[in-house]
Amino acid sequence: MPTASFETSFETLPSNQPMADEIRDNILKNPGFGRYFTDHMAHIRWTGDADWHGHQVRPYGPLTLDPAASVLHYGQEIFEGIKAYRHADGSIWTFRPEKNAERFRRSARRLALPELSDEDFIGSLKALLAQDHAWVPTPASASDECSLYLRPFMIASEAFLGVRPSQEVDYYVIASPAAAYFKGGVAPVSIWLSSNYKRAAPGGTGFAKCGGNYAASLAAQKEAEAHQCGQVAFLDAAENKWVEELGGMNLFFVFKDGRLVTPRLTDTILEGVTRNSVLTLAKDEGLTPEERAISIDEWREGAASGEITEVFACGTAAVITPVGELVSGNERIRLTADNNSNEVAMRIRTKLLDLQYGRSEDKYGWLTKLV
Ligand code: COI
Repeated sequence: MPTASFETSFETLPSNQPMADEIRDNILKNPGFGRYFTDHMAHIRWTGDADWHGHQVRPYGPLTLDPAASVLHYGQEIFEGIKAYRHADGSIWTFRPEKNAERFRRSARRLALPELSDEDFIGSLKALLAQDHAWVPTPASASDECSLYLRPFMIASEAFLGVRPSQEVDYYVIASPAAAYFKGGVAPVSIWLSSNYKRAAPGGTGFAKCGGNYAASLAAQKEAEAHQCGQVAFLDAAENKWVEELGGMNLFFVFKDGRLVTPRLTDTILEGVTRNSVLTLAKDEGLTPEERAISIDEWREGAASGEITEVFACGTAAVITPVGELVSGNERIRLTADNNSNEVAMRIRTKLLDLQYGRSEDKYGWLTKLV
């Protein structure tokens, strides 16, 4: 496998119709989430006989896929989410990309897709940003979380209807300027507790970042929206008792005595890069992180007694968003503690954003320069 400065090996085919500066700058003022895309995309091809090859950055545009491509029938697909941040001096950085690269390989193994090296993964981000750096927004203030959201993904593209691992695979990176994931920004979000659906089962694909997990969460997400909730929380499939995660985010519980609890990793939980970073930053903040099973009864009782003072969701897209209440068919779990400020969630959020935007010392070496 190739090593070192791999981005230089990407052939670049510049777009002859890039977005006009004025239109792009207008989009960057209010990008929302996932609605607009940059001028280029990165691509690497894999075939069973030639490994990874054909590294390119080319104009963003529709893919040509054979209608028999196995991704369209059997969902053999994985993806990642990672952001590019503009620092005050104009330079552009990303956050812990080797963690995403490692998770991408874990997902690939579970979905019987080929593994991509750190060099190709990080190199593809660098090569894309070398072209599309003007699409990285400049934050207006220290609480602004605007960034360029990068979406690496891998699809099985062999035209074959037999059920077996594809012998042709394509890896792409697309990029989309992003503001807060939730419409209300960092305002507390209401969560729907799914009782009709499960997200993942032991031995399944819950720990992998594959499209199928998200497809399987959508019926529950529809229920959530019908109940005016922004996200759905899933319990474990075996006992219907243990809190696992939201449709696309991990969960944390702040206890009155300074413990910060998050469900421990199992094969039904996605290991979030933000989750992992929060566990480290929490220690610096004098909190006591605990990774362990937490039941829905503990959530209910802790909220009622005031033992649990805050709940928050975290992920690359959502950063850190306080949870206001948990809603189910017959109850609403609200925190009784006076948590209007969501003080711990906001403190960790600020620490994380300060680090990502280069406003504080990168003492863990978590930042990688893209441009
Ligand atoms: C992320 O936080 O990057 C995610 O992948 C969650 C969601 C947007 C799918």
